[in-house]
Amino acid sequence: MSTRIRWLGHAAMALDTAGFKILIDPFFTGNPKAAISAKDAEADFILISHGHGDHVGDSVEIAKRTDATIISNYEISLWLEQQGVKKVHGQQHGGGFNHPFGRVKLTLAFHGSALPDGSNGGNPCGFLIYLKDGKKIYHAADTGLFGDMRLIGEEGIDLAVLPIGDNYTMGPDDAVRAVKLIQPKKVIPIHYDTFPVIEQDAEAWAVRVKKETGVEVAVLQPGSEILV
Ligand code: NI
Ligand code: MN
Repeated sequence: MSTRIRWLGHAAMALDTAGFKILIDPFFTGNPKAAISAKDAEADFILISHGHGDHVGDSVEIAKRTDATIISNYEISLWLEQQGVKKVHGQQHGGGFNHPFGRVKLTLAFHGSALPDGSNGGNPCGFLIYLKDGKKIYHAADTGLFGDMRLIGEEGIDLAVLPIGDNYTMGPDDAVRAVKLIQPKKVIPIHYDTFPVIEQDAEAWAVRVKKETGVEVAVLQPGSEILV
């Protein structure tokens, strides 16, 4: 039973796992690299890493249309209820929960989390997703490098999804150091090339990662996918 993971542009990913469709940070409207439009998005669950508009994205509209459950930090879950989202599940950092598609634990992320209307979006997070077949995916979302990525790596990560765009998150140099701390089997770079300020050469980064760490990099085009 493998999991299909598709990059939808920026930090947005779609997972197809154990018969469930999961969206992470579904930012399509206003995203020049979006692989799909919000009206075509399918979801049973939506994960939101923090309150910024390029991560909350089209979550509210998609959840209302699909009846998906949104998983996020507690503060964002309260805000989503105020927006009329019926099914929300709030968690906090370090806390895991066994959802029908697998376990999700919120990890640290060093970033901001104000919501688009200025509401308190709590603290930003990344996601450690324990799939039903035992594989583990770490989606770091928006963060700078931090030493406790080593602790996440100790769990044995099959796939790490890391930002490389610089300016708002880790850039290519720190993202290489993150790979060294996490030691995943495979890594996908995200959060680059969406806007001029985060343009990066992902292929060059992939060559560097392979050379310095031996870890395989999957440089995806928005809309393309790999199996985990
Ligand atoms: Ni952000
Ligand atoms: Mn962002």
